[in-house]
Amino acid sequence: MNNYQTYQHRRERFLKELGSSAAIIPAAELVTHHADCEYPFRQDSDFWYLTGFDEPEAIALFLPHRPEGEKYILFVLQKDTATEIWSGFRWGVQGAIDHFHADIAYPVCDFPKKLGEYLHGAENIVFRIGKHPKVEPFVLKTWSELLERSSRGDFVPLALTAPSAFLHKLRLKKDSWEIERLREAALISSNAHEKARHSTLPGMNERQIQAVLEKSFLDQGGRGPAYGSIVAGGKNACILHYTANNALLKDRELVLIDAGCSTNDYYNGDITRTFPIGGKFTSEQRAIYEVVLAAQNAAIEYVLPGKNAEEIHLQAVRILVEGLIDLGLLKGSLDSLIEQGLYRHLYMHRTGHWLGLDVHDVGAYRLGESPIPLEQGMVLTVEPGIYISDLIPVPEGQPSIHERWKNIGIRIEDDVLVTAAEPDVLSSNALKSLDEMER
Ligand code: GLY
Ligand code: MN
Ligand code: MN
Repeated sequence: MNNYQTYQHRRERFLKELGSSAAIIPAAELVTHHADCEYPFRQDSDFWYLTGFDEPEAIALFLPHRPEGEKYILFVLQKDTATEIWSGFRWGVQGAIDHFHADIAYPVCDFPKKLGEYLHGAENIVFRIGKHPKVEPFVLKTWSELLERSSRGDFVPLALTAPSAFLHKLRLKKDSWEIERLREAALISSNAHEKARHSTLPGMNERQIQAVLEKSFLDQGGRGPAYGSIVAGGKNACILHYTANNALLKDRELVLIDAGCSTNDYYNGDITRTFPIGGKFTSEQRAIYEVVLAAQNAAIEYVLPGKNAEEIHLQAVRILVEGLIDLGLLKGSLDSLIEQGLYRHLYMHRTGHWLGLDVHDVGAYRLGESPIPLEQGMVLTVEPGIYISDLIPVPEGQPSIHERWKNIGIRIEDDVLVTAAEPDVLSSNALKSLDEMER
């Protein structure tokens, strides 16, 4: 499929999912950084998935209850030479039709007066409350006006529903075009990790390694970091979402790098590697690394159709806890430690998440009590870790931790595609064997 067919196909599937409900999917808005400066624009993932249109403030309507030629409507910023000279090119109303294949397009300022007409006759309104502060008042006002008309016998939408039920199950399973984009994101990210490891030396600042990573993302044609890159030396690795990246990297300590690239199409890599700054593990670091790597490899083997995220997590937890018992860092039987969660001072997060247009991608993990079984085309991270932080107290009855183990933080994270056969590790260009981490 080419780019156009991909988006067209998604819209057709979404319209079918909607049944007789009308969906309002707004684009993202520019976000102020400070004063009159804005952050680089990041499109809303739902809007992007359905339109491929990369401008702020637009709104898409999906109207399965309307006749052919009126089912996909875009409201967009108008072309305006003065604004375009300051802020760049806009497609405008005609561009939305010619290049983005809207059935009809309007200037976005027409949205409030056009919305009522298009929602009329739909059974429900699909719109995400709480996320689009500029659009929401118009949606609620229009809906309220339509409800007034229902007392006069008009057929108007009676319920407001979040888009997740219709859209996020489509986004969870990736098509072949998306898989190639995710492969590209993982490849760029893996190459950047390799560069970062080869560039690391004692005495450098964490920020210099961040610069190596992010330069590499851009050099390879990526859009930039998918999320705030984490470069965490020594005890900073025990802070799960450390992003200060401003400490000195010391010999005999480890550095944990959790970073991924976002492609031009907004698909993300999310990779973590941990290695010795000076090129050689201490015996304690090596022992923990071996346990985390064994847990990660065992968990990756579970990325198969029919298995689920809970089983993958449990598999990782079993290997981690077994290893920690062997090292004397946990005490008790494997099953009771797991059942009582007595390992959580050393491993306090889940083993992975869906990956796609969002780094923590949309899609349910459970349906009621039942975990969602993995299917071909789903992509998830597998990212066990051990963090021997001084901040978390050791639970009663568990061994106190000797100084020599303290402040070791190790996570290993890969991006894995579910296939009919073997798990496909998209990020395998980033090396991770014990020997490869040393020099
Ligand atoms: N980088 C965030 C995560 O690994 O989930
Ligand atoms: Mn992750
Ligand atoms: Mn990560």
